Amino acid sequence: MFSKLSKVVGIFSEALRDALLFLRFNSYSPFVDKSKRAFYKIIIEAHTIEKGLSLPAPKLLFGRDKIRFVMNALSRYDIAHSPVPAHMSLGALEAYVAFHAQAGTSDPLLDEIATYLKTWEAKLPKPWMGGTRDYTFDTQPPGTLQQLIASRSSIRALRPTPIPGEQIVEAIALAQQAPSQCNRQSSRVHVYQDPARIQELLALQGGSRGFAPSVGNLFVVSSEICAWGGPGQRNQAYVDGALFAMCLMFACRSMGWGACPLNLAIDHKTETAIRRAGGIPAGERLIMMIAFGEPIAPQTRVAFSPRRPAAEIATLHA
Ligand SMILES: Cc1cc2nc3c(=O)[nH]c(=O)nc-3n(C[C@H](O)[C@H](O)[C@H](O)COP(=O)(O)O)c2cc1C
Repeated sequence: MFSKLSKVVGIFSEALRDALLFLRFNSYSPFVDKSKRAFYKIIIEAHTIEKGLSLPAPKLLFGRDKIRFVMNALSRYDIAHSPVPAHMSLGALEAYVAFHAQAGTSDPLLDEIATYLKTWEAKLPKPWMGGTRDYTFDTQPPGTLQQLIASRSSIRALRPTPIPGEQIVEAIALAQQAPSQCNRQSSRVHVYQDPARIQELLALQGGSRGFAPSVGNLFVVSSEICAWGGPGQRNQAYVDGALFAMCLMFACRSMGWGACPLNLAIDHKTETAIRRAGGIPAGERLIMMIAFGEPIAPQTRVAFSPRRPAAEIATLHA
């Protein structure tokens, strides 16, 4: 009885400490180093530009506010912290200008961007790692694990055609090779192919604007909460669920499908609405959605999303 009570108390006190830790270190916190915060903020906004350009039919002059934000924020950013946000922003802005030049569009904003880019040429020599890059499905299926990992990318140019159920089950079975704590296998995956239901779920998710109508196959990955107990395990549904989701994306790639992870960074109200719309039991924590399907064409274009040099993220301890 006492041990059960101490678990309940522990769950509340850990939730409080989680909240305090998040408040202290989250991206709005004034106690966090400015360069660190700017690094993430610029990357997030630059990504919306590269993502917009990777869509099958980008809207002309999309994202004016984001573009102004990125230029202003980058001007104030110290690239000694990491040049990655600069590469990503400048590459995206350069690709934005090139896309509009190809479309024969002119606008004062494009001139403004071109002038801005000139001021950066001396500060950060080209080529800038950003914008979009060509991507091919021709080498499928990737022969080695290295090739598979290196060849996965978020694909937002999908065919809405439903994929046969037995092939989907094959991909899920492959993803089940994901490790899980004590082999609990708490991950669950819900598959949707009904267009109306998919659109309802994507509208609640909100991160697939620009390509939602082309999504004809959708996973919602979740994790059964009852696999976990006690305060120490409060986040483990996310750990196991995310590992499973990663394997599921690799499985999609190995099947020759495109896949795009879709965040479920949502509050309880939206999580409940998604569960209701998707017929998902209340005892499952939602991890993420994954839009998937045949690619529109074997040769496509994806957001560049450059990676940081490994030395920037690794700490080799003595
Ligand atoms: C948990 C998670 C959530 C994501 N959510 C979205 C999303 O809502 N919309 C979207 O277009 N891309 C989303 N992405 C894709 C990222 O933008 C993408 O993984 C990142 O830019 C790296 O590019 P890559 O996947 O092509 O390597 C998400 C990725 C992850 C891992």
